[in-house]
Amino acid sequence: MPKLIVATRAGDELTIDARPGRSVMELMRDYGVPDLLALCGGSRSCATCHVWVDAEFAGRFPAPVEDEDELLDSSSHRKPTSRLSCQLQWSDDLDGLRVTLAPDG
Ligand code: FES
Repeated sequence: MPKLIVATRAGDELTIDARPGRSVMELMRDYGVPDLLALCGGSRSCATCHVWVDAEFAGRFPAPVEDEDELLDSSSHRKPTSRLSCQLQWSDDLDGLRVTLAPDG
C-alpha cells in the first residue's frame, strides 16, 4: 500500500498507509497524528493543518489558490513548500510523500 510519511512536532516520523480519495490532512487525522488540529475540517479557513512538503514532492501539486495562499501568509512559519494539507489530494503516485507538521502560529 502507498505510504505517506509524516514528521511530527515531537520529531517522530510516522508512516501511514494512504488511500486515494482522501486529502493528506484526512489521512493524518484518521491516523491520529499528534498536534494536528484541522479545526475547520478541511474548508480552508483555519490553517491548523499547515505542513511543509518535502522539496522533491512540492511541484507535484497544483499551486495554492488565493484563499490558501492568504492563510499561509498568516503563519509566521511559512516556507516555500508550505501547504494546507487539507488542500492536498492523495493519489497513489505520491507514494513516499513526506510532510512535516508546521508549528502553531
Ligand atoms: S483543516 Fe482548516 S485549513 Fe485545512
